[in-house]
Amino acid sequence: MKTIGIFYGSSSGNTESVAQQIQQALGEDNTKLFDVAKASKADLEQFDNLILGTSTWGFGDLQDDFDGFIKQIEAADLSGKTVALFGCGDQESYSDTFVDGIGLIWQSLQGKSCNIVGQTSTEGYSHSNSQAEVDGSFVGLAIDENNQGDLTAERVSAWVEAIKADFK
Ligand SMILES: Cc1cc2nc3c(=O)[nH]c(=O)nc-3n(C[C@H](O)[C@H](O)[C@H](O)COP(=O)(O)O)c2cc1C
Repeated sequence: MKTIGIFYGSSSGNTESVAQQIQQALGEDNTKLFDVAKASKADLEQFDNLILGTSTWGFGDLQDDFDGFIKQIEAADLSGKTVALFGCGDQESYSDTFVDGIGLIWQSLQGKSCNIVGQTSTEGYSHSNSQAEVDGSFVGLAIDENNQGDLTAERVSAWVEAIKADFK
């Protein structure tokens, strides 16, 4: 497997912690972790395998650092790359905009000729609306540390097992 670049934006540490758990599950030798606050388009383009993660703030907005980084994603040549998405949100307090940030990243990747993997079931969540939901599934891994933190380890591990085969 070629090295996977894991890029995350996190304000209070939850998405950072999930990114670290994903890295542990994939193995440190197979991955390189980037805080998007300090990352560039060139950092992104060096990997054929990418995992991108953001939390959602405001009402359905990207986390601040990721909001800045999205322009780098839009400008980058990602054709032929394999990309998986994840993010943190709060399905009780922000039921109408749950993990919308994941959906915003997904939207920015449309037309970029990359292969987006790692869709997950919405079963077990109780939100009413999400930009991350497309055709009845989440377009990536949705984590809710605020209300379902006890499920995080299990969700991360099942997701990593599922995406491993997609990364060549
Ligand atoms: C002011 C505020 C706005 C938020 N807005 C949303 C939102 O629109 N949708 C959502 O799913 N979560 C929302 N959240 C929840 C955060 O995304 C959640 O706490 C997340 O775990 C934070 O991750 P981070 O520490 O990596 O930034 C919001 C939280 C706060 C405090």
